[in-house]
Amino acid sequence: MTNSTLHPPWTSFNRIDERPDKEEQKSTHDLGKLAVIFSLKNEVGFLVKALRLFQEKHVNLAHIESRRSKRLTNEIEIYAECNCTKKEFNELVQHLKDHVNIVSYNTPQHVWSAETDCLDCVCVLGGLPDGEGIPWFPQKISELDQCSHRVLMYGSELDADHPGFKDKVYRQRRKYFVEVAMNYKFGQPIPRIEYTAEEVKTWGVVYRELTKLYPTHACREYLKNLPLLTKHCGYREDNIPQLEDVSLFLRERSGFTVRPVAGYLSPRDFLAGLAYRVFNCTQYIRHSTDPLYTPEPDTCHELLGHVPLLADPKFAQFSQEIGLASLGASDEDVQKLATCYFFTIEFGLCKQDGQLRVYGAGLLSSIGELRHALSDKATVKVFDPKTTCYQECLITTFQDVYFVSESFEEAKEKMREFAKSIKRPFSVYYNPYTQSIDLLKDTRSIENVVQDLRSDLTTVCDALGKMNKYLGI
Ligand SMILES: [Fe+2]
Repeated sequence: MTNSTLHPPWTSFNRIDERPDKEEQKSTHDLGKLAVIFSLKNEVGFLVKALRLFQEKHVNLAHIESRRSKRLTNEIEIYAECNCTKKEFNELVQHLKDHVNIVSYNTPQHVWSAETDCLDCVCVLGGLPDGEGIPWFPQKISELDQCSHRVLMYGSELDADHPGFKDKVYRQRRKYFVEVAMNYKFGQPIPRIEYTAEEVKTWGVVYRELTKLYPTHACREYLKNLPLLTKHCGYREDNIPQLEDVSLFLRERSGFTVRPVAGYLSPRDFLAGLAYRVFNCTQYIRHSTDPLYTPEPDTCHELLGHVPLLADPKFAQFSQEIGLASLGASDEDVQKLATCYFFTIEFGLCKQDGQLRVYGAGLLSSIGELRHALSDKATVKVFDPKTTCYQECLITTFQDVYFVSESFEEAKEKMREFAKSIKRPFSVYYNPYTQSIDLLKDTRSIENVVQDLRSDLTTVCDALGKMNKYLGI
């Protein structure tokens, strides 16, 4: 392999069983192991009131827990496991619906386990009327720890043809980066890395060569943000920026954050991060023998390819849109979304001032392919998720075809339209206040979103009113 094409952290296209705990999920739906979570007002006698509902339906309780609701103040949530048939359970649920607010039913038993302290991670398997078979997905941002730690291949497991395969010191170093990423948990500051002189030198070569091409190849959003990253995060030839600084910068610009990852993630786990505006980043540097080539994504790819665009609010929205569409989607649909991700966020082109420009990170971090993609040798088609999703993603060679969008806004709208074709018995809404996913599956949950929207609209109307008054309209 002579080119420096990079593949993103998740693009191991191996067919994998993404749910190793399938057996566990199945057992949670067995008869006699049914559970429900509901909430009711925190007032004297609430437990008696709750228990009476079970008694009225002659349902025996096997286990019960109560906790203060994190969703609604003044409410208590009850988790109850029942010993009954499915028919009895369904009748009970109907009965409960008349008296309390059901949060979830057919709830897997591990949901409220003491180890996870996971009140809000009510699994969709139980949260939907016909939820069986829907893949698990994180419902709050801290649950991304589970996704980011489920690494398919660790960054220290080098293939025989990897430039660092025979270098013991390099391999040892890679193990260190794996440890850092695997020990990382949501909310912690990202450990600062003391990069060696050799690593800085390698980064320096990549940085120097790529920055020569950016003025003529990168899109305007990229060119706007790169100097800001130099100013705020130390993007320089003689300095490898720290992920923690980058994360703080991105949070202010677009609400994105980054977190360290130990190696390849499955498309599902990687895309789930995007739904929360979280980007999984490698922290290690490619081997020094060939600075312009890497067989896997490294921090040069993340920092120079992805980060400058993630600082753009419209691009951030577009990225999140793909992530949200993937939550709870079938393996087939996740694969389609992953392919769309690949041909946009990794290898996308856009039109600016009548010229083709690059916004894909795989291109912006690869000298050879960056030149190639804008040359007359490249085939360029219009990005259309309906057809792009079937294009073959090439990992070790240049792409056969690149896809162009008029703008991130346009790409986002196309993805949103495409997302409608994804079969899910619910819609998802990202709640930025709680950094969690609300499932829009019944009138109550939709009403909550409408209330938020109404409040936003009131603010906009108020602003318009003030403007009109000021302008004398
Ligand atoms: Fe990437």
